Amino acid sequence: MAGNVRMDEMGTRAMAMIADLARHTDEPGRLTRLYLSPAHAACADATAALMRDAGLTVSRDALGTIVGRREGPTPDAPTLLIGSHIDSVVNAGIYDGPLGVVCGILAADALRREDLPFALEILAFGDEENVRFPTSLASSSALAGDFRPEWLDGADADGVTLREALHAFGCDPAGIGAIARDPARTLGYLEVHIEQGPVLEAGDLAVGVVTAINGATRARCTVDGTAGHAGTVPMGMRRDALAATAEMIALVERAGTAARDAVATVGVCTVEPGALNVIPARTRFTLDIRAPDDAVRAALVDEIVSGCRAIAERRGVAFAEERFMDQAATAMDARLAAALETGAARAGEETIRLPSGAGHDAVAMARLCPSAMLFVRCEGGVSHNPAEKITAADAGAAVRTLVEAVRVLGEGVRG
Ligand code: GLV
Ligand code: MN
Ligand code: MN
Repeated sequence: MAGNVRMDEMGTRAMAMIADLARHTDEPGRLTRLYLSPAHAACADATAALMRDAGLTVSRDALGTIVGRREGPTPDAPTLLIGSHIDSVVNAGIYDGPLGVVCGILAADALRREDLPFALEILAFGDEENVRFPTSLASSSALAGDFRPEWLDGADADGVTLREALHAFGCDPAGIGAIARDPARTLGYLEVHIEQGPVLEAGDLAVGVVTAINGATRARCTVDGTAGHAGTVPMGMRRDALAATAEMIALVERAGTAARDAVATVGVCTVEPGALNVIPARTRFTLDIRAPDDAVRAALVDEIVSGCRAIAERRGVAFAEERFMDQAATAMDARLAAALETGAARAGEETIRLPSGAGHDAVAMARLCPSAMLFVRCEGGVSHNPAEKITAADAGAAVRTLVEAVRVLGEGVRG
């Protein structure tokens, strides 16, 4: 990549870079790139190469985050962070995460020969989706000094712990404490991300500025019943874990629908032993419950968990719930959001303000420093789905907005 890529080529460049990163998958034929997997390693290497091409000095931290740095004018200059993630959900779209990383790299490249009064770092986090381990934004939380040591003992579906996976990836967990940044030396964090909803498309806008990110609770649940012969045990004498779980899932949907602006999802449900002629002995399922209002979310979580307990009691099965995320709603920083709005105006883009229903690394980063997000229109609001789609023109609008926002922040620092 040549320095100072022409601004009208930015969208095309972004799309080519995202397509390049999308080649790295753990499952042939579809995009699945879980944290610390071989595909994550390959994608991290490819991201590092793109960063080097943009003139950045690249390093990798103890949780696998790829960091591309441009030094500031003086050693004590603060750092402006720009980033997103390169892990994905199972059977993912290609833009969720990589769009933000690539926009950051292209912005750094565009600003390569310009003086800035701060250092610039582009970050490619690895554990945003939290699909593999029971963590919560582990890689970005570490920058905020919020990494929880007990996460290292959490295991994936194959029983591999995060500690073991880090070692296999070539990372030393002993270095995690040193990832934490000094808030006094961190100017802020900007993240570009696909909207993952329909609001920008409905408003005929390429980009929008995020006001706040909804709070979220996540848990893993287990229901234990008794295995038995599907042909011989009379219906009234069964302790069927899956039938009980079906009632619980119906409750999750009913309660989530009734709560104001909330959503509640069971995204995973596995059955043991999983045989046609055996009464299910055990299920494991996940809960993902979100709302803009923390009190509404807390009440909904209570209603669902106590309802599941009551169902279990009535049916004579055991219910256990392990909560691994309780994340309050996160307001974005007004000054950084205003810089994105001014940046969009300078880039010739009209914007609106909108909340985020999805979680993002910006939630963790907001605990470290002022943080703000720019959303990019996606077709039909579709995301966490291989049909996820954006246009090159909109990607270009996002890069140009980001470049201008960095300039606005530079003007602010110079005074
Ligand atoms: C992250 O994509 C989330 O689940 O909000
Ligand atoms: Mn996602
Ligand atoms: Mn994402």
